[in-house]
Order: sequence, then C-alpha cells, then structure tokens
Amino acid sequence: MSIPIPELSRTPITFSEGPQAFFPVEYEPATGEVVMLEQRKLPSEVTYHRYDKPDQVADAIRDMVVRGAPAIGIAAAYALVMVARTEEGDAASFLVANGAAGRVLNATRPTAVNLAWAIARMGRKAAEVAKLDPRERYEAMRAEAEAIHREDVLACHAMGELGARDVPDGATILTHCNAGALATGGYGTALGVIRAAHAAGKKIRVLADETRPYLQGARLTSWELHVDGIPVEVISDNMAGHFFQRGEIDFVVVGSDRIAANGDVANKIGTYSVAVLAKEHGVPFTVAAPWSTVDLTMSDGSGIPIEERPRDEVARVGGTTLVADGIGVRHPAFDVTPGRLVHAVYTERGVFHPAKGEGPSALQSKG
Ligand code: MRU
Repeated sequence: MSIPIPELSRTPITFSEGPQAFFPVEYEPATGEVVMLEQRKLPSEVTYHRYDKPDQVADAIRDMVVRGAPAIGIAAAYALVMVARTEEGDAASFLVANGAAGRVLNATRPTAVNLAWAIARMGRKAAEVAKLDPRERYEAMRAEAEAIHREDVLACHAMGELGARDVPDGATILTHCNAGALATGGYGTALGVIRAAHAAGKKIRVLADETRPYLQGARLTSWELHVDGIPVEVISDNMAGHFFQRGEIDFVVVGSDRIAANGDVANKIGTYSVAVLAKEHGVPFTVAAPWSTVDLTMSDGSGIPIEERPRDEVARVGGTTLVADGIGVRHPAFDVTPGRLVHAVYTERGVFHPAKGEGPSALQSKG
C-alpha cells in the first residue's frame, strides 16, 4: 500500500512507528498553511487538505476533518500561528486579532478541554511577545505551537510506557473510539499504551469498538493498528458485553476529553457503558491522557459540557437514511464515567487511581 504524503518543508512529526508515516495536522512554514489529514474519508481515501485561513481550520475542527482532544488543540494552536503571520499591526491589534480568532476556535467543540488549554497557552505567549516586531512575534508563536505539538507526542510516549506495564502479556485489550496517533500530535494516548505494550514484546491483541455513530473505532483505530502490524478485530458496540461475559477481555484502555479533579472522565459516548461492563466482570478499566486533558476547575464530571452533534450523524450512514425524516434523534457526543469505575489514569506526570479515591491533583506539582 503506497500512501501519498504531502511535501513539507521540514520533516513531519509522524504518528506511526510502522512502515508508513502519517500525520493528522502540521504547519507548513514555507506557505503559512495548515496541512490536515481528512479523517472523515479514512480509511478508504488518504487525502490531505491545505488551509490558509484560521476560519477554515475552525470549520475543519467543527466538521471533524481533524478530531481527538489533543489534535484539535494542536490544530487551533497552528491556526493562531496563521493569525500571527498575517497580522502586521501594533501590539494592540495583534492581541485583538489573536483573541478574536481564539474565540472562534474555542466555540467549535466544547467538551475537549485540550482545545481551550491550547488556545489559552497561545494567548499567554501572544501577550508576552505582542510588543516584538511582527516577524519576531510570528516566530515566537510558531515555536510555541510546535512545542505544544512536540510535547504532546512526548507525553503520549511517556503515558504509553506507564500504561504498558499494567498490560498483561497475552492480553486482549478493548478500546473505544480512536485515541490514537490520529487523535493526538502522534503515537496516541490509549493506542500509545497499546503500541508501547506491543513494542515491549507483549503478545497482545485488540478489540476495537466500532463506536457508533461516527465509527472512529471501525474506521480509524482498526486502520492505525493494522498499519502498525498490531492484531486488531472490530466489534460493534453491542458485542462488548458478550466478550466480557466469555472472559475474552483482559484489559480496557480509552482516551479522554476532560478529567475532573475527582477522577471523573469524559470520553466518547459509549465509554461509560464499557466501564460498567468492565466493573461487572472485574476487568481493569483504564484511561490514558496528557495533562492538558486534566481540568482541575471541575470538581467532578457533572459540570463538563457535553457536545450535542447533528441529527444526521446518527440518522444517516454513508448517505443511507436509517431513521425516517421527522423522527427525533438524540446525539450527545460524549459521556462521563465516574472515577469509582476507573482503575488507573496514565499521564506523562505519572499514574493515579480514581477507584481508590485518588484524583489528579497529587501530580499537579510534577509539571
Ligand atoms: O469526537 P471525537 O472523535 O473528537 O472524540 C474523540 C474521543 O473521544 C477520544 O477518545 C478523546 O478525544 C481522546 S483522543 C486522544
């Protein structure tokens, strides 16, 4: 299989350690464009878009060309680099332009706190460098966005190593949605744990929930793992209970969009059901996420905003109508798993165990 990779003026941070190199999002300094893998067409088509305006990046985040909590934060950071490149006015007009673009980007998807986190970090850098000349402040903003990207890849590797220690040799691992290289700067969070266990020589295999309605598991997770040569089978979401009951699942690992101070975890809709099943069957339910996913301003998960997505993402699949027009559909895109069901959360700062009453705050000073 030969996959076209767009020419970039510098070496892309690749997301795969396998034979192919892909990346979900990159900034192209030579042209000032954001280059983005079109995830809605995967796996049948591998195409990249080039965007030259921050609003196009905002649309791409909302429409899920790029998706996954860390990846949308990185995309937003690069959109703010575009603003710095074109805004040649004084410090005040630069900060106004940065703030306005940040608000548009922030409004695209509400649940993943990594988006707001990346925009806030770019905002702090903008304030710091606003008085520099336009070229220097652009370079500083670009360096900050690239640091956000690079640090996310390193975080994925660190949490992957930590989580892989808990994966039994010979395990069948269930995962939900796509918390892989496609959803991050590269390597993946939940799939980082899986990649690290595989790299350590553990004989693992993966069951990927298809993840209705957007099918991130069927389309993206299975493809990523297959490309890397990690054994994977796709199951429809309603099969998980059957495989738990038969003792065929040994370990669960998922990603997260926001983790509250008490260890409650927001993630893709359907994650909570998986956690309940894991508890019933005595299987460890674990989460891998970078520190940028932790939101200590939320005391528990009840305050986490849950994104509602369009009706047609449930009512139609691949152009086929499943639910007749005029019939109501509900589409919350995320749910919240109570910390008491979460055996472990792996981060680049260390691990904590919400089911034992541990929250993330003990790791706060390790940054
Ligand atoms: O709606 P999506 O595809 O952006 O949802 C993605 C997830 O729920 C992921 O599990 C989460 O963002 C973690 S990605 C490392």
